[in-house]
Amino acid sequence: MVGYMQIIRYQFLQHGDKRGQLVALEELRDIPFVIKRVYYMYDTIENMRRGCHSHKNLEQILICVCGSCKVLLDDGIEKETVLLDKPYEGLYIASDMWREMYDFTAGSVLMVLASEYYNEDDYIRDYSEFRKNIAEKMYKTNEEIL
Ligand code: TYD
Repeated sequence: MVGYMQIIRYQFLQHGDKRGQLVALEELRDIPFVIKRVYYMYDTIENMRRGCHSHKNLEQILICVCGSCKVLLDDGIEKETVLLDKPYEGLYIASDMWREMYDFTAGSVLMVLASEYYNEDDYIRDYSEFRKNIAEKMYKTNEEIL
């Protein structure tokens, strides 16, 4: 819902034994959507910010499988920062959420599970366009309520 910031974190089951740890992720069981795409970021340059966009129709789960990074979430009204530093923790991001990933530690790997195939038309990469879209959606929702 537009204008309602909610941080949704997933703690995945760790199948640990004396050899180490293992996490298994199954769509519609551990992950709340059908996974159409997986991508990951690595070798991220120090002080580099990634993301800096929102999506019109995309659900994602971000997992920092190695090292750590921070994620700024912005729903157009509120902003929250989330630290991802555990390979068994996922951050859910719905549509209409501006996100920026930064403070990547050396050697970190950020993996993203996505509900749709890659589609550049689904991106909003301009912050003022993002804010305008959110304002329009909120106005529409208020009109429907009244
Ligand atoms: P980009 O969207 O700029 O990354 P960020 O998440 O930091 O905004 O993606 C970098 C490049 O990778 C760009 O050329 C598009 C391409 N790309 C794909 O081909 N498929 C994908 O699923 C993603 C996420 C990116």
